[in-house]
Amino acid sequence: MKFLSQAKVNNKKLQSFVDLASSRRSVRSFNPGQRVPKETLEKIADAGRWAPSGANSQPWEICVVEDPERVREVASVMASQADRLNEHCKGFPHVHKKHWVHDSIALLAVFVDPRWAATYPVALDSDLDRVEYEENRSNILLVSVGAAIQNLQLATTAAGLTSAWLSGGGEPQTARDLQELLGFPATHIPYGIVPVGWPRRKAESRWRRPISETVHWNRAVEANLRNQHDIDHYLAKERRHSIYKDATARDQHVERAPTAGEIDAVEDGNL
Ligand SMILES: Cc1cc2nc3c(=O)[nH]c(=O)nc-3n(C[C@H](O)[C@H](O)[C@H](O)COP(=O)(O)O)c2cc1C
Repeated sequence: MKFLSQAKVNNKKLQSFVDLASSRRSVRSFNPGQRVPKETLEKIADAGRWAPSGANSQPWEICVVEDPERVREVASVMASQADRLNEHCKGFPHVHKKHWVHDSIALLAVFVDPRWAATYPVALDSDLDRVEYEENRSNILLVSVGAAIQNLQLATTAAGLTSAWLSGGGEPQTARDLQELLGFPATHIPYGIVPVGWPRRKAESRWRRPISETVHWNRAVEANLRNQHDIDHYLAKERRHSIYKDATARDQHVERAPTAGEIDAVEDGNL
């Protein structure tokens, strides 16, 4: 039996995990390619199943959509969702090639039953509960779901495929459409739709804040905390490039003011 003191950090495994995590990319453009075996999709779903969750509640159902007809139907729902978003949230940068989702070889729809938040801490005193615990229960639920979807995306990357994370399923109209299409009751909300496919191009690097500014050792480095001005600047000048561009293209764009036409028109990787 090994004693803990003899245990060694596995730097090799750590590095390959960081390589995997940093190579995961949202690619919103798929080559309509070969379908993958069901076992591969099941393995990817299995990685999602192993995610941590508050109180081990596992509030998710992972619906693997791989029947080509069904994939097209789900893709159409998401294309309508994107149309509504483009109409209602003017200024939010969007990809014009809305129908890229139709080229998915499969879609992972993560349905969540929020009633599972009742399994997280609830104070006996209801006033205290409202002030201290209620909001955090929904945080716990959402971050649990995030962990599951992250696992799905990492496993997809490990398989040599790519994915994106579409959050529009949580919007009421889209949730209803997907519930009806995939046979889930109104209690289950599709918080995450993950199209899976063969990347049309090599996944570029995407901008991340530098590690020296993001990681705080033992206490906050105040100078590195972003403030309201940074948020306003991100909204006005950076967001549309930071979402879709590779890191170099993004840096070039944020150094100059955008032209009017660029505000709404963003092509994934092409601007
Ligand atoms: C909770 C969440 C919701 C997201 N929703 C969408 C979405 O609806 N549509 C989309 O194209 N990308 C969506 N994304 C992907 C992000 O835009 C993307 O992760 C981010 O720009 C960083 O790029 P990268 O994933 O290539 O590293 C979402 C990501 C997360 C974590």
